[in-house]
Amino acid sequence: MKSDQEHTSLFCRIGGHACVRRIVDVFYNKVLDDYRVSRFFETIDMERQRTKLVAFLTYALGGGTNFTGASMRKAHERMVREGGLNDEHFDVIVEIIAGTLKEVGIPAPLINEVRAILEPTRDDVLNR
Ligand code: HEM
Repeated sequence: MKSDQEHTSLFCRIGGHACVRRIVDVFYNKVLDDYRVSRFFETIDMERQRTKLVAFLTYALGGGTNFTGASMRKAHERMVREGGLNDEHFDVIVEIIAGTLKEVGIPAPLINEVRAILEPTRDDVLNR
């Protein structure tokens, strides 16, 4: 039998929509400041991208169902094909997400859960 806490989605424990929105803002500032990955984000509409990432994180943290493996493949396909998107970039993005969560005060065990949710998206994101 699961405890009440296990029944509560990670999304809720992290603090719901407003908290995710703030995490996305901090995350994007870090991405744009990182010479290893900023080029991938240079030509896209960041306001639109922020909205998409709020939706993704909401899904990844157990609070929504908007994204599938297929849609993750499609979203990153061109970056893999034409921009050389690879494991190194994926690792950087995961590190930036984890660093962001730490900075906004999310406890380490929850950050580890987020890593465990992100890792299985790797092959879809990298179109393998
Ligand atoms: C850690 C795993 C990742 C997750 C969970 C993730 C999530 C997402 C989501 C949900 C979208 C929007 C999909 C849509 O179009 O509706 C997206 C788009 C995008 N992602 Fe990722 N992503 C990941 C890895 C990466 C990496 C490693 C890069 C580059 C370094 C990247 C760069 C982008 C860019 C530039 C877009 C915008 C594409 C466009 O609108 O043309 N992502 N990502």
